[in-house]
This record gives sequence, C-alpha cells and structure tokens, in this order.
Amino acid sequence: MKTRLAVLGSGSGSNCQSIFNAIDDGRLNAEVVAVYSDNPEAYILERARLRGVPAEVLDCRGYKNKFPLETQAALAERLQELRVDLICLAGFMRLVKAPLLEAFPRRILNIHPALLPAFPGVEAWKQALQAGAARTGCTVHYVDAGMDTGEVIMQAQVPVLPGDTAESLHARIQVQEHILYPAAILSALARL
Ligand code: GRF
Repeated sequence: MKTRLAVLGSGSGSNCQSIFNAIDDGRLNAEVVAVYSDNPEAYILERARLRGVPAEVLDCRGYKNKFPLETQAALAERLQELRVDLICLAGFMRLVKAPLLEAFPRRILNIHPALLPAFPGVEAWKQALQAGAARTGCTVHYVDAGMDTGEVIMQAQVPVLPGDTAESLHARIQVQEHILYPAAILSALARL
C-alpha cells in the first residue's frame, strides 16, 4: 500500500519536488494526493498541477500570517476524507494549531533550514550567518503548536564557508533539504 501524503507550502516548492522525485525514483513508496498553499501565486501549486496532483489555495480570510482555525478544521476534514497518512509542511509559513494537530497526531512534519533548536523562526540561514556559526544545516521535525519546537526526526549539517552570503548558504542548505526530507518521511513512517 502506498503512503498517502499531503504537502502544504507557501513558496517555490522545491522540497515538494524532492518528494515527487523520491517517489519517482523508488525511494518512497508513496503518492502525493493533494497540495495546498496559502499563497495563490506560489510555484508549488504549479509544480503540483504539472504532475496532475490536485492543488488548492487555502482561504485564510485575508489574514496575512494567521491560519484561521476554521480553515484548519475544514482542511483536517478534507485530509481525513482523502485518507492522508502524513502531512508534509514544506516552506509553509503559517502556524498549525489544534484542529490539524489533533486530527493528525505525530503525522505532521516540517522542514526547517537550521539545526534546531538553534535558529527557529524565519530566514534561519541568515540568523546562522549573522551569529557567526561555523555550521548550520536543516532539520525535519514533528509539528507541535510552537514555532519549530517539535521533536526532531532527522538533521543534516552544512558548513558555513568563508565568503558565504545568505543566498549561497541557503542554496547549499536546500541541497541537503532535498535529500533529507524523503529520508525523514521514511523514518517517520517506520515510527508510526
Ligand atoms: C526551505 O528552506 C524550508 O526549509 C523552509 O522554507 C524553504 C522552502 O523552500 N521552511 P521550498 O518552497 O521547498 O523551495
């Protein structure tokens, strides 16, 4: 039986693509059954459509950052109807709360561009650079009600190199993210 995944993202969706790629080359025996974004312009929606995966915009009722509880409850219901096994947050910029967390306990994962618990929050690669860290990386963790606070599943390290800019460092972190996320999904499935 294939694992049924849903992916939520707000941006380019390169991590979502890495999940598609892992499915296509046999690393993941899974299917992405739906992709959602809070941002109608996000390229993640286009990636899904190009693959024939249903892609939908989440109605966040005009809130810039909030993920309205009604929207979360409606999404939880839809994902249960779709018999989703795991929800993968991939660059999704809103905080998930009780309606989704309670419907999918230990079944929501997130990828974060730093070695948590170091540098939670936005633009974590910039935070690492500004702090003068010698190394940073990426983390896949279970999602809880906090910001980047859930239990760590897997991490990959990335050195900060002399002359690194925010862009060059983020690009190297993303190379590792694309390897890490499919591996961490497998690890989370083995722990269910
Ligand atoms: C990634 O760096 C991820 O760690 C962070 O947001 C970025 C999303 O990139 N949470 P993409 O949309 O998957 O390309």
